[in-house]
Amino acid sequence: NVRQDLAGRQVVVTAGGTREPIDPVRFIANRSSGRMGFAIAAEAARRGAVVTLVAGPSALPTPSGVKRVDVETAAEMHAAVESIESMDLFVGAAAVADYRVAAPAGQKLKKSGETLSLELVPNPDIIRGVVSRADRPFVIGFAAETDHLREYAAAKRVAKGMDLICANEVGAGKGFDRPDNALLLLWEGGERELAQADKRHLAGEIFDTYHQITQD
Ligand code: PMT
Repeated sequence: NVRQDLAGRQVVVTAGGTREPIDPVRFIANRSSGRMGFAIAAEAARRGAVVTLVAGPSALPTPSGVKRVDVETAAEMHAAVESIESMDLFVGAAAVADYRVAAPAGQKLKKSGETLSLELVPNPDIIRGVVSRADRPFVIGFAAETDHLREYAAAKRVAKGMDLICANEVGAGKGFDRPDNALLLLWEGGERELAQADKRHLAGEIFDTYHQITQD
């Protein structure tokens, strides 16, 4: 018997990495597999939420009862989230590219003996868009850091206006593309350390913390 503590709530989750094209056959990407975000979407659905999962390219199966929207680039992920009219809770677990290639080539780039430079321009920030909505949902974001985890995550939470940030150390054998993770949750006036555990278990802890913060 599952506790339906998110019954009827509209939950939007982003997951996976984005791909930023260089030319028709090449792209810039990152090591996100989507596992963290898919686990969060699955757990939200189990708790009774109406879940939309906006996913970068991922081979993972769609969790049952979840509506999945597949995207490739950060711009597409941004547009997909912007087009969702109402949400009670937003969880940004995707590793969104901060930059894209300014002018992707229309044809496959040819090799030459010369150095090749790519001009990168900043992508729109998806969380900032969600936070600035008139009917602002509760916003949970992530911070992936290789160093200064607490310090950088605390600053990121405030800078982006998140209600709760889930900080994880990433790098050799940590965070990305594995079934387990460790998280430091930070919110206004509180924190909680979650030891290494299965991502699905961590997803449950994140929602329990959400209830604790909002006291409902
Ligand atoms: O997918 P897995 O293999 O399971 O790996 C999980 C994970 C390590 C990718 C995940 O736990 C994680 O940390 N996700 C966030 C990765 C990230 O891009 O962090 P960041 O510190 O660069 O970004 C901070 C926050 O801003 C994130 O919530 C991100 O979704 C959001 N963001 C970033 C850039 C952008 N243009 N728009 C955003 O909304």
